[in-house]
Amino acid sequence: MSESYRDINRLHWEERAPAHAASTDYGVERFVSDPAHLSSVVRFDLPRLGDVAGLRGLHLQCHIGTDTVSMARLGARMTGLDFSPSALAEARTLAARTGADVDFVEADAYDAVEVLGPGTFDLVFTGVGALCWLPDIRRWATTVAGLLRPGGRLFLREGHPLMWALDETHTADLVVGYPYFEQPDPLVSDEEGTYVETDVEFTANRTHSWNHGLGETVSALLDTGMVLTALQEHDSVPWEALPGQMVHDDEDDEWRLVTGRERLPLTYTLQAVKGS
Ligand SMILES: C[S@@+](CC[C@H](N)C(=O)[O-])C[C@H]1O[C@@H](n2cnc3c(N)ncnc32)[C@H](O)[C@@H]1O
Repeated sequence: MSESYRDINRLHWEERAPAHAASTDYGVERFVSDPAHLSSVVRFDLPRLGDVAGLRGLHLQCHIGTDTVSMARLGARMTGLDFSPSALAEARTLAARTGADVDFVEADAYDAVEVLGPGTFDLVFTGVGALCWLPDIRRWATTVAGLLRPGGRLFLREGHPLMWALDETHTADLVVGYPYFEQPDPLVSDEEGTYVETDVEFTANRTHSWNHGLGETVSALLDTGMVLTALQEHDSVPWEALPGQMVHDDEDDEWRLVTGRERLPLTYTLQAVKGS
């Protein structure tokens, strides 16, 4: 497969990272003013995370580092990896301003084992709009398994593939408009905005993305020899994924369907362990 999707997507993230760091949605200033503050993404999964203190953790596709710093605040010794230099610059600034001891590494997700070494981590943490930028879920699963030490754990929260398959331009109905299963060709999109409130006008709007069915993701992990230990589907998502049909819940900072929540999973949390 042509690797040009990387350059196209990197430009998109390069432009958006500073706007995300400046937005109230990511709440960077709250990390600085409150040393106990955690991102709402990490807070959502606290009941499932368990004790991560002392674990050597890697945040794959860490973006501007808000979740990475949150994991460090829970006691994990974190490394963040992303392919966007401007996202990493924001992440390093956040770590410096909050006194968090986190390493940030620039690399493509598929190159993580080569760059960071095999069997290095107790915990790989990732998700919430990460897997859709990778064309091949099996290559991702092999990468995760390669990064973990025997007995190490993957913690993934991600948009549900059924949610990604819905056409978000339909603001009154749930309409399946995009593939559910992984396809060889990307979904090419030219959206002008981003998922946070911002006045910034972007020019690098093209993206290439892929959906990965839930069975494809689970099977890809099982085929590496990893053992699935938890899989929960949620009726909420951390961004307004279906505009016009969702309401924000201030309690957990998640978005849910206004009506008929029982119809559709919006995100899932998956955990898997590498065999000893
Ligand atoms: C939506 S953000 C990650 C979400 C994260 N949960 C957050 O909100 O902070 C997606 C990130 O994936 C990164 N990314 C996309 N494709 C990548 C790749 N092939 N290798 C490494 N990072 C990649 C982007 O640079 C971006 O920072």
